[in-house]
This record gives sequence, structure tokens and C-alpha cells, in this order.
Amino acid sequence: MISFKEINHKEFELCFELDSNTISLWTKNQWESEFKKKGVKVVAMLIKKKIIGIYVLHTIIDEAQINYFSIKKRFRRKGYGSYLMNYLIKQCEKLNIKKLLLEVSETNSIAEVFYSKFNFLTVGRRKNYYKDGTDAVLKEKYL
Ligand SMILES: CC(C)(COP(=O)(O)OP(=O)(O)OC[C@H]1O[C@@H](n2cnc3c(N)ncnc32)[C@H](O)[C@@H]1OP(=O)(O)O)[C@@H](O)C(=O)NCCC(=O)NCCS
Repeated sequence: MISFKEINHKEFELCFELDSNTISLWTKNQWESEFKKKGVKVVAMLIKKKIIGIYVLHTIIDEAQINYFSIKKRFRRKGYGSYLMNYLIKQCEKLNIKKLLLEVSETNSIAEVFYSKFNFLTVGRRKNYYKDGTDAVLKEKYL
């Protein structure tokens, strides 16, 4: 059975653990400081009480930036990413958020297809944004 849970700052190590086993985007310190930002909400999706996906949403007035979105490797391509994104969108609509934003590496072709499926449009690019010199593609979606 699928459930959702807001992760609080004391549980940041749970996020680090999932991240280490998926995309290794942030260090423990980065996760800890993410929780300290005003307007940040971290939500986990669980199956049988085990976390299989996480998103981090940073809301500023009526816009929200998706700072992190990932599904555990062995649960991918089974519709869980879409399930989590639909939940995120529903939560944003309830909060009257008008626009979703995100950044994704130009080399992440799976994420490209995934976000296109949800009608995110490319609106810009940050040159040499990532450590490996690749660009970040900026995407947004109006709700
Ligand atoms: C992107 C991600 C969240 C998708 O999660 P998922 O659970 O696999 O997604 P779904 O099963 O709901 O797939 C939805 C759609 O995404 C696309 N997609 C997902 N995985 C794909 C793959 N390996 N190849 C091509 N398209 C893919 C397909 O269009 C798919 O629809 P379909 O199954 O009807 O063809 C997951 O791959 C992931 O966690 N990636 C690592 C983290 C990441 O890159 N996050 C985004 C940038 S921060």
C-alpha cells in the first residue's frame, strides 16, 4: 500500500540514505541545510512503510521549485514516479501554487521524457552548471 509522509529535519539522514542509493545529489550537510530553508517541504512516498521516493519542494509565495525528485532504482519504470508527481501537483494546487520550476542536467534524458510527460516546458539554460561541466536545463509548468 502506498502512503506519503512529510519528513522532518530530524530525519534528514533518511533522505541522505535514499539519495546515496539513487543519484547522490547532496552530501549529509547539504541535506541538513536544505531542511533549514524557509518554505521547504520534504515528502516521502512509502510502500509497506519503506521509503521508495522523495521530493523536496521550495515554495516562495505562489511558485514552487522542485529541488529534488527521485525514485529508488528498483522501483523505477513502474509508475511510481508519476504517482509521486501527481501527488506533488495535487498538494501544490491545494496551496494555490501557480507555477512549478525545476532544473535538470542536459544529460538526464530519462528525466527529460518524464518531465515532458507532465508538460514541463524548457524556459532556459544555465551553462556549465554542474561539477562535470554540463548545463542545467530550466523547466516550468503552470498549474
Ligand atoms: C525520473 C524518475 C523520477 C522517473 O520515475 P519512474 O518511477 O521510473 O517513472 P514512471 O514509471 O512513472 O514513468 C513515467 C514516464 O517517464 C518516462 N520514463 C521513465 N523511465 C524511463 C526510461 N528509463 N526510459 C525512457 N523513458 C522513461 C516514460 O515516459 C514513462 O512513461 P511510460 O512508462 O508510460 O513510458 C526516475 O527515473 C528517477 O528517480 N531518476 C533519478 C532521479 C532524477 O533524475 N530525477 C529528476 C531530476 S532531479
